[in-house]
Amino acid sequence: MVEREKVCVTGAGGYLGSWVVKFLLSKGYIVHGTVRDPEDDKNTHLKKLEHAEENLKLFKADLLDYDGLCIAIAGCSGVFHIACPINLIEPSVKGTLNVLDASVKAKVNKVVYASSIGAVVVNPNLSKGQVMDENCWSDIEFCKSIEQWYCVAKTLAEQEAWEYAKRSELKILTVCPSIIIGPRLQPTMNSSSLYLLRILKDGSESAENRHRALVDVRDTAESLLMLYEKPEAEGRYICSSHEIREQDLVEKLKNMYPYYNYPKSFSEGEGVSLNSEKLQNLGWKYRPLEDTLVDAVKDYEESGALAKVELAQTS
Ligand SMILES: NC(=O)c1ccc[n+]([C@@H]2O[C@H](COP(=O)([O-])OP(=O)(O)OC[C@H]3O[C@@H](n4cnc5c(N)ncnc54)[C@H](OP(=O)(O)O)[C@@H]3O)[C@@H](O)[C@H]2O)c1
Repeated sequence: MVEREKVCVTGAGGYLGSWVVKFLLSKGYIVHGTVRDPEDDKNTHLKKLEHAEENLKLFKADLLDYDGLCIAIAGCSGVFHIACPINLIEPSVKGTLNVLDASVKAKVNKVVYASSIGAVVVNPNLSKGQVMDENCWSDIEFCKSIEQWYCVAKTLAEQEAWEYAKRSELKILTVCPSIIIGPRLQPTMNSSSLYLLRILKDGSESAENRHRALVDVRDTAESLLMLYEKPEAEGRYICSSHEIREQDLVEKLKNMYPYYNYPKSFSEGEGVSLNSEKLQNLGWKYRPLEDTLVDAVKDYEESGALAKVELAQTS
């Protein structure tokens, strides 16, 4: 790494964004993080990260605020575009184009964009049981028909990013993670942390026994850094490490933590199989699922997210 290289991270205060910021700071980068409100308490964890005081600067920028993004990205040689409005198609696509325009204006060398398997797997024409790789794309009209608006937004935004790459000199890489789980740095709950928390505490009568693809948040953040740093990295990368039926995930958790309130029964469910070989061939490694679960549960217990439920049940 060039000493004191400056990079920008959009959505710095979010679940994945916070880990990316932490790892960048630990590697000596100067980080410009965009958040919508630098004064909001939900972003104070960023200021406490090691080296944050000297090397992290937070910028107020909505994805629809092109000028704000330009100020945050100015002087940076790389951008990690991680921010994403939930289920909002227009801001997601326009926001991504704003980030790319601001990156070109700042003469950025490389943009690493966090897409999603939501842009990969939702397609009725893909055969059942097919292992999906970087050539697979979600079908936008089908996603609309089943009201999967997040997948519509992620597919459109990633496709627009690739169109942009064709017509500009900007080097763009995309990463498509599966369901990201593991410990949080931020004090708030994001949707995929909630997914795991609900399995531990909701005690629902019946859950769908879906075939789930999972990846640790730290391994995902490492993949983004690796793609940024490796000059040979090109194109799109699926980032997923473990596949497991939801019922088996519950059994695993029950063995480790028998006292939580798990789903009581399961109905048949479908799911996806993904191939992360391209990322692994570049050197990406991931930790065992058990480590991720232990660290996630520790986070929920320490933050009170699980203890509160236990108390409520016993009182
Ligand atoms: N978590 C997963 O399972 C998963 C899986 C695959 C892909 N991804 C992708 O990974 C990225 C991060 O996800 P996450 O789980 O870390 O989500 P998260 O914790 O909800 O973080 C999303 C971030 O986006 C920011 N944001 C939302 N709307 C914005 C807007 N209009 N302008 C600027 N910033 C905005 C939020 O900032 P505020 O704090 O200001 O609201 C937040 O920091 C997303 O692109 C997501 O699609 C996530």
